[in-house]
This record gives sequence, C-alpha cells and structure tokens, in this order.
Amino acid sequence: MPARIIDGKQIAADLRADLAREAAALRERGLVPGLTVILVGEDPASVIYTRNKQQVAAELGYKSELIRLPATTTQDELLELIARLNADPTVHGILIQSPLPPGLDEEFIFSQVHPDKDVDGFHPVNVGRLWTGQKGLVPCTPAGIMHMLRVTGIDPKGLRAVVVGRSNIVGKPMAALLLNAHATVTLCHSRTRDLPAVCREADILVAAVGRARMITADYVKPGAVVIDVGVNKVPGTKNKIVGDVDFEPVAEVAGHITPVPGGVGPMTIAQLMKNTLIAARRAWG
Ligand code: GUN
Repeated sequence: MPARIIDGKQIAADLRADLAREAAALRERGLVPGLTVILVGEDPASVIYTRNKQQVAAELGYKSELIRLPATTTQDELLELIARLNADPTVHGILIQSPLPPGLDEEFIFSQVHPDKDVDGFHPVNVGRLWTGQKGLVPCTPAGIMHMLRVTGIDPKGLRAVVVGRSNIVGKPMAALLLNAHATVTLCHSRTRDLPAVCREADILVAAVGRARMITADYVKPGAVVIDVGVNKVPGTKNKIVGDVDFEPVAEVAGHITPVPGGVGPMTIAQLMKNTLIAARRAWG
C-alpha cells in the first residue's frame, strides 16, 4: 500500500490538546470559552452526538452546557431560548443539533442564532463571509479537513481539487475553503458527466457523497490526496461503517488517504471546539 495514511484520530487528539492549553491560558486572563448545545427530542444518534460534544468541551476546560428539550417544544419556546443565549456574554458558541423534530422550521431557527456564535458555520451571514473571503465561522467538517491538510504539509495552492457532493454542510464550504487556499476547484454531484474522468484530474479528491465505496481506484490519479468524508453503515453488520472510498484498492494508487473510521470523523468535534475558542476570542476583542 503506497499511500500514506492521514491519521485523523491523532491529528484531532493533538488539536484538542492544543485547544486545552489555549483555554487554560485564556482562563488565566479571565476568559472561559462557553459552548451551549441544544437537543430537541430523543433521536438516539443525536443524543450520543450531543453528549460527546458537551463532554469534549468540558474536558477542554470550557463552560459546557447541554440543554435537552422535549420533542413537543414549540418554535416560539426555542426562539426565546436562542434569544437568551444570544444575549448571554458567557456563551460564545450555540449549536442546535439537527435534525429538529417535525413542526420546527430548521432553516429559520438556525438563522436566528447570532452569526458570531454560530459555531456550526451554517448561518447565511457566515456562508456569505466564507464565499467573499471574510473572517467568519466555517462549518466544522470542511474546516477540519483543511486542518488535516495543513498539518500533513499539503498546500492546495495551484493544485487541482475535486469535491464530490454539493451539500451545504460539507461539499459547498469545502469547495470555498479550497478556493480560498488557491486551489483550482471543481464541485461535482450526481448529474456530473463522466465523474471518474473529472476525479482523475484531482490532485486533492474529497468524497462527500454518502455512497459506500463509490470512489474506486479508476477515479484516482496516481499520487493524489484522497479525503473520505463518507460514513456509511454496512448492511447486515452491527456497527461497521465504511467510507465513500473503496479504501484498499484506492490506497494502492493514492499518495495520501484518510481511513474510515479514524480519518475525517474525529476532526469534526475537534474543529467545533476550535470554532468555539475562535468565537470566544473574537467576542473578547
Ligand atoms: N447533526 C449532524 N451533524 C451535525 C452538525 O455538524 N451540526 C448540527 N447542528 N447538527 C448536526
């Protein structure tokens, strides 16, 4: 296997350790980064995700709070809570776990979080800032991928980058970040013609489609950097997950590759913690 493995678990652990040190230094000066996570309803996966986020924030020494609300919560009640958190100077990051129960207008609710506390980077103001190259908050998964590239010594400047998948959470912001880093970017999707040929042009190939092992070796230029965002359950297994990349054969061709699990996944929460620290510092001035 010629490809070098990009170890997301290790990179995320290193980032968390750096953030814990930074948080301790800020605390000495009287600033404690604050993250509030809101979970509405009982979706089992969301219960686990939100608990993890709350716990990691606490481990880093942040002021960390998980607010759990019943699925019967009204839109007005949720908006009232958001308004209170927007006004609370000890809360620097607000994360509302998606999906929200039916009857709540997710798009509108997310737009009511103050953009400077929007640690998900989903607010239209932050989307606009990202695409115009202004300082804002950036969605955690693509921002975490840029961190992985940076610490691995991969500079996108001048390279051809191909992103497969055009979601608002990963594909589009990933394309913007690579563009801001001076890559030449192609954003592909389900209607792209001759996808393998387009992908074979990539020096950096990011797969975020949600289809198990779809990216096979014939999509990959020898030596390319392959980043796998996919998290796909394997039918008939208990908890086995695979990425969007057909790992073993692609690793024979690629120069660098992220595994699943242990690649991009661990970066997302670590980057959420970084976004919270960034928001706290900016709020402080
Ligand atoms: N649900 C699944 N992933 C995410 C995420 O990154 N942010 C939020 N708010 N909800 C999610």
